[in-house]
Amino acid sequence: MRVSVSLAATVFTALASSAPASKEPQNKTAAAEQCHGINGPVLENNFPDPSLFYTNDTWYSFGTFNGQDLQVAQSNNLESGWSKIRPDHRILAINESTWAGKRVNSTYGIWAPDVFQRSDNKYVMYFSAYEKAPENKTKPHCIGAALSESITGPYHPINTFKQCNETGVIDPSWFKDPSTNKQYIVYKTDRPKVYLELREVASKGANESVQFAGHAHKLLKMHEQGFSDGYNLEAPSLFKRGDIYFLAYSTHYYGDGSYNVEYATAKSVLGPYKRVKTPLLETTDEFGCSLVGPGSASFLRSPCGDEEKAKVIFHGLKEPIKPMRRQLYTASVKVNGTKLYIEKS
Ligand SMILES: *[C@@H]1O[C@H](CO)[C@@H](O)[C@H](O)[C@H]1NC(C)=O
Ligand SMILES: *[C@@H]1O[C@H](CO)[C@@H](O)[C@H](O)[C@H]1NC(C)=O
Ligand SMILES: *[C@@H]1O[C@H](CO)[C@@H](O)[C@H](O)[C@H]1NC(C)=O
Ligand SMILES: *[C@@H]1O[C@H](CO)[C@@H](O)[C@H](O)[C@H]1NC(C)=O
Ligand SMILES: *[C@@H]1O[C@H](CO)[C@@H](O)[C@H](O)[C@H]1NC(C)=O
Ligand SMILES: *[C@@H]1O[C@H](CO)[C@@H](O)[C@H](O)[C@H]1NC(C)=O
Ligand SMILES: *[C@@H]1O[C@H](CO)[C@@H](O)[C@H](O)[C@H]1NC(C)=O
Ligand SMILES: *[C@@H]1O[C@H](CO)[C@@H](O)[C@H](O)[C@H]1NC(C)=O
Repeated sequence: MRVSVSLAATVFTALASSAPASKEPQNKTAAAEQCHGINGPVLENNFPDPSLFYTNDTWYSFGTFNGQDLQVAQSNNLESGWSKIRPDHRILAINESTWAGKRVNSTYGIWAPDVFQRSDNKYVMYFSAYEKAPENKTKPHCIGAALSESITGPYHPINTFKQCNETGVIDPSWFKDPSTNKQYIVYKTDRPKVYLELREVASKGANESVQFAGHAHKLLKMHEQGFSDGYNLEAPSLFKRGDIYFLAYSTHYYGDGSYNVEYATAKSVLGPYKRVKTPLLETTDEFGCSLVGPGSASFLRSPCGDEEKAKVIFHGLKEPIKPMRRQLYTASVKVNGTKLYIEKS
């Protein structure tokens, strides 16, 4: 493995710290540090940017791995029993992409996947990767899509679907509006300032979910509505309960205790979204464990029969605090009107 000092260095470190467990012996006291009110850590491997999908009584989470491919974990319970599957990491066939490229001395920068099933039962993955650049030049991240017959892959890129800009576009997440059946992708863009955006995609036909069906709409801009977001506003996840659209996201830096999960609410999918002052999750000991820099939350979009709950997966940092020590947590969040909360027990 070669290591560069570019942006992708973070991803290489990810590989280093997600090395086999033998290199990082289990801390015997870990069990005593299990949280209450939230579940976890449910997986102590480095597992950044988790997504959440549920089918056939099984929960799945795809996460960032080494920039060349992804990782996936599964469990029969949201609360516990998570384990990594597909040790071969042949999940996304990025070499079939015509637009993605490796950076010099680096990787494809594959980050933050999201997976769901569309109406023909095929599985769709959204992901971000570097755009191919001329020799010795670099280009930022774009988002793309890939399809698979099997949930664990391999996912084959749909090369006609991508969104790029002059600066990075990352953190794609799918949303199907239960009131219209229209499908959307929410994501973060750095151009010209940090925004969370939403764009409609095809809701039926051969190109369902993998063809744009409208222009991008800006939902939130960093630092607006009287908030201070550090240097980041990212990892959007959109879901609906009752007549309220909840847009969750993270602010500040994922590599330290400043990272968090906040949310905004709207009565229309296009907004306006009003930001809620109290973060849903932030660094705290109030769950009876040391929760540090929780973020990159992905909500299960469907209520799974309980409109007053929202299942969520997120990562938090592990001691000693380093950016590439992000472990998995899950929770069942209470929904009341326009409020989300987790009871600290
Ligand atoms: C194990 O947990 C204890 C108690 O939190 C901590 O002091 C120690 O540093 C941990 N050891 C490792 C190797 O993480
Ligand atoms: C779920 O069950 C259906 C019907 O048995 C099967 O076709 C499908 O492949 C299963 N999906 C997964 C992800 O196991
Ligand atoms: C992509 O990589 C896989 C696994 O190494 C290989 O089997 C396949 O032929 C490659 N496909 C292309 C288009 O290069
Ligand atoms: C790539 O790595 C080689 C060997 O370590 C080094 O000489 C070269 O400068 C690196 N190129 C870039 C663009 O970092
Ligand atoms: C790219 O960088 C390498 C190493 O620095 C150099 O040998 C090569 O000529 C460069 N290619 C171009 C097109 O500039
Ligand atoms: C790129 O960003 C600019 C500025 O925000 C925006 O007007 C444009 O629509 C974006 N392009 C795409 C393809 O999203
Ligand atoms: C699917 O998308 C491709 C690429 O945009 C386009 O060429 C094709 O006509 C679309 N097919 C349908 C059925 O809309
Ligand atoms: C929901 O919020 C309302 C208004 O704040 C409050 O009166 C009610 O008790 C809450 N319901 C639950 C189940 O917490």
